[in-house]
Amino acid sequence: MTVCVYTIASGKGGTGKTTTTVNLGTSLAMLGKKTTILDADIGMANMGLLLGLEKSAVTLHDVLSGTADVKDAIYDGPGGVKVVPSGLSLKGFQHSNPDKIKEIMSKLIDGMDYVLIDAPAGISKDGVIPLAVADKVILVVNPELSSMADALKTKALTEMLGRPVEGAILNRSALEKTEINRNKVAELLGIKILEMIPEDANIRTSAAFKTPVVIRTPNAPSSLAFKKLAAQLAGMEFKENGNQKANKEGFVDRLARSIFGGN
Ligand SMILES: Nc1ncnc2c1ncn2[C@@H]1O[C@H](COP(=O)(O)OP(=O)(O)O)[C@@H](O)[C@H]1O
Ligand SMILES: [Mg+2]
Repeated sequence: MTVCVYTIASGKGGTGKTTTTVNLGTSLAMLGKKTTILDADIGMANMGLLLGLEKSAVTLHDVLSGTADVKDAIYDGPGGVKVVPSGLSLKGFQHSNPDKIKEIMSKLIDGMDYVLIDAPAGISKDGVIPLAVADKVILVVNPELSSMADALKTKALTEMLGRPVEGAILNRSALEKTEINRNKVAELLGIKILEMIPEDANIRTSAAFKTPVVIRTPNAPSSLAFKKLAAQLAGMEFKENGNQKANKEGFVDRLARSIFGGN
């Protein structure tokens, strides 16, 4: 199959872009798809932190400052996903030239089925380039008006760049009392809602354990939604694990739950 580059964007910070990139990427890899996730949020990088790769010797910062080859910044992540983390230092950010992302794309897509790019919030240069190199853009929105407004702006910017918006992921949706529901969001943004990811305390717990929720608690509500979305993008049938109730809770899980909350 030909490779597809998805950029996960939002406009607003904190909507769940990194969480989505990590869990969607891991889910695609677990479906047998060769997948790389790239942390293009070079100023506020936290993909590495979420995956325990924060001490990586070579990061995207080194690549974008011209001192390393991107092939040396690719690490093995959970479920077989390949990960290109960004560095955490401000200095590394200052020396990074986001324009270089365009140059490294051919090496990044080499041999891959999917490349997922975690975009930064905002519409400055480092935010625009990830949109410009995408085959398709996925917007992560929260059911709040401010998130909608920013997503609309990002959608307009994406279209100005001549890139297609595949749809939106409605993250942190509650079953009821959402300020704006699924249909309204689709109508407001003028794009389809690919999937709704529920508010799920397991996401925070899994972050504390530096493991994607789809691996740590594969039957959690958010995990099922991420896996369903991955199957949908890959054109595969989503098979829910038949024995969801058999997800036995061990001592560590119980301890984590009592410390961090969650279900
Ligand atoms: N569906 C969800 N349920 C609960 N917490 C979530 C959910 N999605 C994201 N979060 C939490 O919200 C915060 C922001 O998510 P993150 O993925 O870092 O956003 P962004 O990359 O867009 O800034 C993180 O602490 C994350 O754990
Ligand atoms: Mg982020």
